Amino acid sequence: MTSSSTPTAADGGAALPQELQTLAEAVARRRNFAIISHPDAGKTTLTEKLLLYGGAIQQAGAVKAKGEQRKVTSDWMELEKQRGISITSTVLQFDYSGSTINLLDTPGHQDFSEDTYRTLAAADNAVMLEDAAKGLEPQTRKLFEVCRMRRIPIFTFINKMDRPGREPLELLDEIERELGLACWPVNWPIGSGDQFRGVIDRRSHELILFARAQRGRQSEERRLSVEEARASGAVESDLLDQALEELELLEGAGAELDLELVRAGELSPVFFGSAMTNFGVRPFLDAFLDLAQQPVARPSSAGVIDPVGPGFSGFVFKLQANMDPRHRDRVAFVRVCSGKFEKDMTVQHARTGRSIRLSRPQKLFGQDREVVDDAYPGDVIGLNNPGVFAIGDTLFLGPRVEYEGIPCFSPEIFAWLRNPNPSAFKSFRKGVNELREEGAVQILYDTDESKRDPILAAVGQLQLEVVQYRLEHEYGVKTRIEPLGFSVARWVVGGWPELEKVGRIFNCKTVRDAWNRPVLLFKNDWNLGQLRDDHPDLELSAVAPVVSGVEPISL
Ligand code: G4P
Repeated sequence: MTSSSTPTAADGGAALPQELQTLAEAVARRRNFAIISHPDAGKTTLTEKLLLYGGAIQQAGAVKAKGEQRKVTSDWMELEKQRGISITSTVLQFDYSGSTINLLDTPGHQDFSEDTYRTLAAADNAVMLEDAAKGLEPQTRKLFEVCRMRRIPIFTFINKMDRPGREPLELLDEIERELGLACWPVNWPIGSGDQFRGVIDRRSHELILFARAQRGRQSEERRLSVEEARASGAVESDLLDQALEELELLEGAGAELDLELVRAGELSPVFFGSAMTNFGVRPFLDAFLDLAQQPVARPSSAGVIDPVGPGFSGFVFKLQANMDPRHRDRVAFVRVCSGKFEKDMTVQHARTGRSIRLSRPQKLFGQDREVVDDAYPGDVIGLNNPGVFAIGDTLFLGPRVEYEGIPCFSPEIFAWLRNPNPSAFKSFRKGVNELREEGAVQILYDTDESKRDPILAAVGQLQLEVVQYRLEHEYGVKTRIEPLGFSVARWVVGGWPELEKVGRIFNCKTVRDAWNRPVLLFKNDWNLGQLRDDHPDLELSAVAPVVSGVEPISL
């Protein structure tokens, strides 16, 4: 058989064992993860240090230029430039120590949005980053809930150990108590703040000593045994004794790291370090690569799909418009789930049944785009999207598969969207419908049909600004926003019949979502709690299940 007649995944032929072998190796090499954290915990700093180790950037400050406004690699849109923030989340791929790592960037500042949640649908592992002085913070908790829903393994990195922080045991206790996530420290700190001396690696029982490295430098961590540390006086004995005592306490609670529990998202390996001074980042990365799961089999309409299978499949988890003002295009980000992806493949689009040739797939690294020839499970590719793809869409080759889709997550900001200019209604309608389809924002409607203006429902304030900005610049409609004083939304499980059963309800507003499902809006959690007390049988959900095969309501 000549190579030109070799069946490939691209023409739908059966993959040869050799190709499967290559695929299996590519999958085994890949680790894909997202960082979940609260603003200021050090995500940008940690990302930068990880990229430095991977050789993906040459110097610190490439991700966030110090002294400038916050400027991140994904700095595309005009609005982003004005605000000096990153709206777009990208994937950063780099090689380290024989592994190919895909770091899915979760927008996390003022740019917190539904994309942040959706990115987690594409992640196989999560790194929960905490500031040692603050412990668990609100945004981290919310993102944790999404990880928990998907049962993805969570690795905890407790950052800023070079500064005074809370007691390590107290930090772990908080995670266990409040998140119900058991912890297994992989290393344990010796002192903290000014007296931070390093960590004890729990598996090798070695000390890794901390030296205040120059900002941005890869510090060479010095390793030595407990005995050597004592003999050389490298660490004050009282600090070392305390750390060893605490470690002993931990051993009593469970000496083994149970990998199965880690993979089930029930046990979190915990690391202490300081991203800024580069301490503990390399040991973290090494252990992470060892313990994290490779791209996993995913449930679909055709059963669980093994990543090492001959047929390509993947799903759209994010749509991005106008990333490059010179192109004014849209990109659909696809997470590859199985098989090998090849440029120019003709794939099936599960929702519409259409065949689509993927001729210019892109790999994105910050601002740079390059056309990719192939991609493997765990990778993310960017496809030009002339309005074909929607969030959650499955693409496949071979037997039909459809992945579960991505649910709608509970919005927290609500506002009427007004169009003061009736003659622009057509453009207004087109813009609102397209932005909803794209997942830029959720649209809710009043139950009173005479109030026809849409209600924008967002996870972050910036989503509203983006919608207004895009309506103006892409659809030529200037709009006005009128905030609604609600901050909590819940879907009624069982829909309208269940809601009718309970009769009149107080201190909340009932609206409809784009699939005509009842959604209750509350001013605050307290009002939600009140309704729960009054009607314990009414089942409410913070996440709306995926609807398939039903067309949403358009404006
Ligand atoms: P984020 O992306 O999670 O929001 O956090 P980011 O990395 O921007 O870090 C927030 C601040 O915390 C930055 O300081 C950063 O330098 C600092 N930081 C991050 N890791 C550590 C650490 O391990 N130890 C200490 N002491 N500080 C850390 P900034 O003053 O806001 O910015 P910059 O002037 O340092 O750039």
